[in-house]
Amino acid sequence: MSSLPESEVDRYSLAGTSTTSFTPSMSSLWYREREGIRFQVVNEAYFYPVGEEHLQIEDLWDLIRAIKYYDGPGRCFPKALEPLLNELLSKRDAQVLDVGSGLRAKWVVDMASRWPSATFVAMDLLPPVETWSPPNCIFEIADCMEGLQYQDASFELVNHSWLSWWLPDDLSYAKLVDEVARVLRPGGVLLLSEFSNEVVPEDGTSLEERYPTMAEFQVMNRAVALAAGSRYLTDVDLVFDRVLRDSGKFTDIHVSRIDAQIGERGVDPEKDQAGQYSYLMSTCGFHSWMQVLAGGAPEETQRMDGGIKAELETTRECAPGKGVKGSGVCVWARRI
Ligand SMILES: C[S@@+](CC[C@H](N)C(=O)[O-])C[C@H]1O[C@@H](n2cnc3c(N)ncnc32)[C@H](O)[C@@H]1O
Repeated sequence: MSSLPESEVDRYSLAGTSTTSFTPSMSSLWYREREGIRFQVVNEAYFYPVGEEHLQIEDLWDLIRAIKYYDGPGRCFPKALEPLLNELLSKRDAQVLDVGSGLRAKWVVDMASRWPSATFVAMDLLPPVETWSPPNCIFEIADCMEGLQYQDASFELVNHSWLSWWLPDDLSYAKLVDEVARVLRPGGVLLLSEFSNEVVPEDGTSLEERYPTMAEFQVMNRAVALAAGSRYLTDVDLVFDRVLRDSGKFTDIHVSRIDAQIGERGVDPEKDQAGQYSYLMSTCGFHSWMQVLAGGAPEETQRMDGGIKAELETTRECAPGKGVKGSGVCVWARRI
């Protein structure tokens, strides 16, 4: 795992006292300045506040992902995959890898409870927070951009979810896909769920007109992501489909584009539930991002934070088709 070069790092805490180390539970911030943009970092590869809000966002994402990406509450994979996963993961010595598994590695913990005879590896740049996990879970700290430190053909299933925002570009994602293909056994499955960095109005009108602060924020967000060496994902359904096909190592590629409203629209109880989670996740997420940007001007940050909250509030219970939505993609494919 790479660490930040001394010369590029200023160290601050939220209270303004300096700090020299990172642990996931504390709210200290490191800032880096690049191309005139100041933003928070955890380490070379990850810039995002890591504290209670991160945990809350991961929990909400887990709930949204189940409903919108995996066919219903409590699910960890699409229904269509169930027979195949039952077959693959009930084998003796079955192994599963989750890349960028998150602070609580919720997906791994849920999956490992469901298939107790398989071994699940939760791999992340950051150490996990203390959390209950079944005995068939292994936690590893590593940077997936440095390759996957596993032998060829060792896994039945490799998953990644909400990881790709932090990878610089299609090329680095393509390298990861090559590595995933290498460590998957023939016939093994790659499963991914990722979403775009942008929210857009559901009715196709411009964000600038109705939600000017969110639009302003997205411009900043893009600039920071690019300065930090991460990507700004907008065409999610196309990116992953293209990279998997171009690799030539996968077959049976299933791509579902997912649109998720933010807030309730009173149409369908399950969608409304997901919309409510999306609303909470967005409020929390935008707030976190404002912290990422807080190395800029604090008054500006406060103004935008307030503006975004007010705008999100107006989308919360607006008429069907008249609010804002995020888009994402759920993909699964089999190793040739
Ligand atoms: C938004 S969280 C998503 C966590 C989890 N997959 C989920 O769906 O809730 C992104 C995770 O990717 C990890 N990550 C980012 N870049 C990484 C890299 N280069 N190698 C390994 N993990 C990485 C981060 O540390 C973080 O825990």
